[in-house]
Amino acid sequence: MTGIIVAIAQQKGGAGKTTFTAHLAAAWVRARHRVALVDADPQGSLTAWGALRAAESGRWPAIPVESASGWRADTVAGRLAAAHDLVLIDTPPHGEIDTRSVVRAATLVVVPVQPTPLDVWATRPTLTLAAAEGRPALVVFNRVPPRATLNAAMREAIQAEGARLATASLGSRVAFAAAFGEGATAVETAPGSRAAAEAIAVAKEVLAAVRAAQRKG
Ligand SMILES: Nc1ncnc2c1ncn2[C@@H]1O[C@H](COP(=O)(O)OP(=O)(O)OP(=O)(O)O)[C@@H](O)[C@H]1O
Ligand SMILES: [Mg+2]
Repeated sequence: MTGIIVAIAQQKGGAGKTTFTAHLAAAWVRARHRVALVDADPQGSLTAWGALRAAESGRWPAIPVESASGWRADTVAGRLAAAHDLVLIDTPPHGEIDTRSVVRAATLVVVPVQPTPLDVWATRPTLTLAAAEGRPALVVFNRVPPRATLNAAMREAIQAEGARLATASLGSRVAFAAAFGEGATAVETAPGSRAAAEAIAVAKEVLAAVRAAQRKG
């Protein structure tokens, strides 16, 4: 498998796009895939994480991060795809125009969503965008609270939007946020933790969806 581009998109701010991008990357690198990242968000969070990671040289496996404003992101991703198995693009919130070309370039669009009614409603424009570009979308729940009675209702609500929902999800865990301060992910700072296991499970399921999307062409 070479040169697959995966977009992480969700118009709602703070849904977990950057957290997902880094954790998918780390889990895939752990599984020996060659991974590169594109930061298409002018906020530059992923770029800052990548710089911190590079400064910790040798501590964590290297993952290249290139920043590229929206309209250039698909070109940069295409170039990186020539030398990597998987290229993930982190996109900005509220960036429909910038995100469109990224979605178009992707084999799969991963859409992180927090399991609340407001977040589920706010996901519609992103799903519409993916559908308009003819790209399959996979919704993945993020920050799932323990024992929340809302979770089952939110699964139904997102499926009612016509979206495909991943079985795996990320819980609400400090480890996901804290690892960023070390230029790392919970996969690396807390191996064997529930956070790491969740990230690895999400990464496996996303990869399976990527392969299925690729077969469909
Ligand atoms: N599963 C989680 N558990 C705990 N904290 C999380 C989780 N996911 C994200 N966070 C935290 O929530 C905040 C928003 O996450 P993140 O920056 O990944 O979202 P985003 O969609 O990239 O935001 P933006 O739209 O601003 O780019 C961050 O502080 C992050 O550390
Ligand atoms: Mg972000």
